Parts: sequence; structure tokens; C-alpha cells
Amino acid sequence: MDNTTRPSVLVVDDEEINVMLLEGILEDEYTVITANDGTEALDILWHSKVLPKVILLDVQMRKMGGFETLKNIKADDSLKRIPVIFITADKEESKALAAGAVDYISKPPNPDVVRLRVKNQIELKNYSDHLEELVLEKTAEIMGSMDVMLQAMANIIEYRNLESGSHVKRVQLYSEALIDQIMGRSSKYVEYAYQLEILDPDIIIKSVALHDVGKIGIPDKILLKPGKLDPDEFEIMKTHTTLGKKIVESMLRNHDGIYLQHCRDIAYCHHERFDGKGYPCGVSGYDIPLAARIASVADVYDALVCARVYKAAFSYEDAIKIITDGSGSQFDPVLTKVLFDIQDEFMAISEAYK
Ligand SMILES: [Fe+2]
Ligand SMILES: [Fe+2]
Repeated sequence: MDNTTRPSVLVVDDEEINVMLLEGILEDEYTVITANDGTEALDILWHSKVLPKVILLDVQMRKMGGFETLKNIKADDSLKRIPVIFITADKEESKALAAGAVDYISKPPNPDVVRLRVKNQIELKNYSDHLEELVLEKTAEIMGSMDVMLQAMANIIEYRNLESGSHVKRVQLYSEALIDQIMGRSSKYVEYAYQLEILDPDIIIKSVALHDVGKIGIPDKILLKPGKLDPDEFEIMKTHTTLGKKIVESMLRNHDGIYLQHCRDIAYCHHERFDGKGYPCGVSGYDIPLAARIASVADVYDALVCARVYKAAFSYEDAIKIITDGSGSQFDPVLTKVLFDIQDEFMAISEAYK
């Protein structure tokens, strides 16, 4: 095996003789990197392009002992998965394993034991790396097919609703603009930024496409009525939220939890109002999922600035006024502030995707 492809092992020991001994045992099969204490080992790890497959770590060292070094390795996300084998003269095997070492070798090291333990750990590490890659690949595949499915569903809804073309696209872009503003560098909305970070904003933006998926189940004579709905018809129209929830649940029951959560929250709650006077449940304030509160602002803005069969379009200024007037009653007051800050961006989106 040439030196560039063979795996490397980091040997950390402050006794020169031990380093030489271990180097002698391993150098035929591995690239052996050496460090004389924990500080030097960490320095090497933090600066190396290719990380060692295994670390052999002495327990007793004058400058940063083995346990402290291991603690530092475990605290570092990029290093914590490198298997560490303790080399110990003391009866500290169980303490070593409890601290997170994968194995230990007693001093003086027996060459065959060293070779076998290092070989085993490298095989295990390669296997777990391979599994992790497979999981990442599969996750990307599933997410990719989810995106395609969501987009296809969104297109069906749009064709059927006869809504102004690109309504779904614009509502997604408005939602994205609100999210970007909240999560931006100089954001005034740290609390919301923190919540969004946890909620996976990219998936919120994708899920917004399904906000009206429940309209698939609304009869044509109501959905396509060229005029205002009467009260009975409006009651039926309102059920697109509960229908949407059911459709999303049956469509996504075998899929990733966060997709299901956002699609369901948005389809079910995008007509809830901050003051609790919305539908279908009349939940209020922060009990309305944040993703649905964002979708609501984006959806209403688009409905206002677009002409529909039963109404003319409002001007951009009037739309902003209507939404800011609804701050705290219809809409989340933080989100109306965010919208106010980026109203030019909303206008640009509306103009670009007419
Ligand atoms: Fe809706
Ligand atoms: Fe909509």
C-alpha cells in the first residue's frame, strides 16, 4: 500500500522509547504520526487535513494526560468519532472505557495485541463510516423525492384552483423572504431566529406549497364560483384546512417527521388568527405553529395584491397597510413588523412572478 492511501494512526506518549516501540509495530501497515503529549496531539488533530483512523493514547503524561486529552477530543465535533485506544500501565482499564475509549492495551505492549486491536478498530471505523454515508445518501434520496412530490401536488392544486398562476411559488418566496430576514445577521428577532433554526426553515418553505392541498376536496361549484361565497358555501370552503390535514397525514405517514409536521401544521392552521378568531380550531397566539403564522402572512399578502374573479387587486401600499392593521389581531405582530421591513422585497417578488 502506498503512503498516501494507507490509514494513519496517531501515537501519543511522552516516553520516547514507547513511541518508537509502537511505531516499529505499526509502521509496516500504517502511516504513524506521533505526539509527545496531549497538547501536541490536539494541535496535530486540529491542523491535519486527513484525520487518523485510530489514536493510541498514553494515560500518564506530564503535559495534558490521557483522560484530559480524551475529554478534549470528545468535545470536538470533528474529532469525537475517532476511536481512541488507551495504553495503560495502571489498572485503569474500566476508567478508560468509561471515559469513552473504545479499547485499551496494557503496557508493555504486546506487538500482536497492538496490531489486532488497531486493525479491529480501523475495520469498525470504516464500517461505521460506510453506514453513515449510506444513511446520508438515502436521506438525500428520500428528501429529493419528497421535494418532487410536494411540487407535483402544489401544481395540481394550482391548476384546479384556477388561482393566479404562480401563487404557490410566490407564497413560498414570501415565506422565504420573511424567514431570511428573521434569521439574517443583524436580525432583531433573535427568539424567532432561534425557533426557526430548530424547525428547519428549508422544509418550512417547501411545505408552504401544500397550504391549500385540502382544496382538492372542495366541490367545483364552490371552489370555482365566480363571486363571493354565501355563508353555507364558506363553511364548506373552510373545511379545506381539516381536509388538508387528513391528506397530508395519509400522504406522508411513512415519511420524515419534520416534513409531516410542517405540511400538516401549515395546511391545518394557515387560516388561524393570532386573536383566536380564525378557523378551523380558533387557536390563538403562539399556539399557532410558527410555520403556519408565516404562511398566513405570505398567503394573505398574495391574495391581496392579486386580482381574483371576485375582487380587484389592492396596491402594494394598501396590502401592507391592511396586514399591519391586522397586527396582533389577524397576524403575529412580530411577522407583520418583519413584513414591513422587507415590503420592497415582497413587491419585487410579486412583480417577478406575475
Ligand atoms: Fe387556504
Ligand atoms: Fe393560498
